[in-house]
Amino acid sequence: MAATTRLISRLALVTGGGSGIGRAVCQRFASEGALVVVADLNEEAANETLRSLSRDHKVQEHMAAAVDVSSKQSVEDLVESIQRRYFQPASVCVNAAGITQDDFLLRLEEAAFDRVVGVNLKGTFLVVQAVAAAMVASGVSKGSIVTVGSIVGKVGNIGQVNYSASKAGVEGITRTAAKELSRYRIRCNCVLPGFISTPMTDKVPERVIHKMTSLVPLGRMGEPAEVADVCSFLASDDSRYITGTSIEVTGGLFMG
Ligand SMILES: *[C@@H]1O[C@H](CO)[C@@H](O)[C@H](O)[C@H]1NC(C)=O
Ligand SMILES: *[C@@H]1O[C@H](CO)[C@@H](O)[C@H](O)[C@H]1NC(C)=O
Repeated sequence: MAATTRLISRLALVTGGGSGIGRAVCQRFASEGALVVVADLNEEAANETLRSLSRDHKVQEHMAAAVDVSSKQSVEDLVESIQRRYFQPASVCVNAAGITQDDFLLRLEEAAFDRVVGVNLKGTFLVVQAVAAAMVASGVSKGSIVTVGSIVGKVGNIGQVNYSASKAGVEGITRTAAKELSRYRIRCNCVLPGFISTPMTDKVPERVIHKMTSLVPLGRMGEPAEVADVCSFLASDDSRYITGTSIEVTGGLFMG
């Protein structure tokens, strides 16, 4: 059950908010009382998520924005537009923007490696840096940054050398940011989704889905909302003594 006021009066930036896990995070945060900035490379998708959010804020509204997390300028423009509109920076940030582009190690093109790393790894760096800088400058009293890694970053996956490398790096950024930012009362944690039903996994062939699902102790794929629940916990004061950690949301896949 949602603790419906847990994020009340919090301003939350969610990248990758146009689909999948990011969209579920936006919806969950809004249902818990947060004001949500839905950011996505695809502005139309961000708009669609925005329309799906309940609107019971009388004075201020949620907003949607286009952002390319792999571009420093784009990320800085986004952070500035949030400041202009709400006169404060986001005190919660979930970086859910991410892409895959799979191929075997021996075939993986350099450009494909660079693209994935540019969005997943550099994108996480740019967003965490810009958001943290805005939080520090405004002296937020309790910031929470949540990054989205992947269980694949820990255990590897055939055909995902670029993706697994980028996601392992996301955990490294998160732990280091947690150490550096704790003196500003900003917490940083990472969620590690396993096999979650999203547009990303829609591209996976049926037989692979079947095989993967058979390996999950809980016996099914996860839902984006089940990852969003954990993001909500990490964003809220319920996790106030947790920083620098990674939480697996995998149904037990690859445990231990
Ligand atoms: C998203 O919504 C904004 C505000 O309503 C609008 O200006 C913009 O054109 C929309 N973008 C797309 C791609 O639909
Ligand atoms: C990862 O590499 C594969 C193989 O070259 C490529 O098709 C895919 O686009 C890359 N992933 C990303 C996110 O660029």
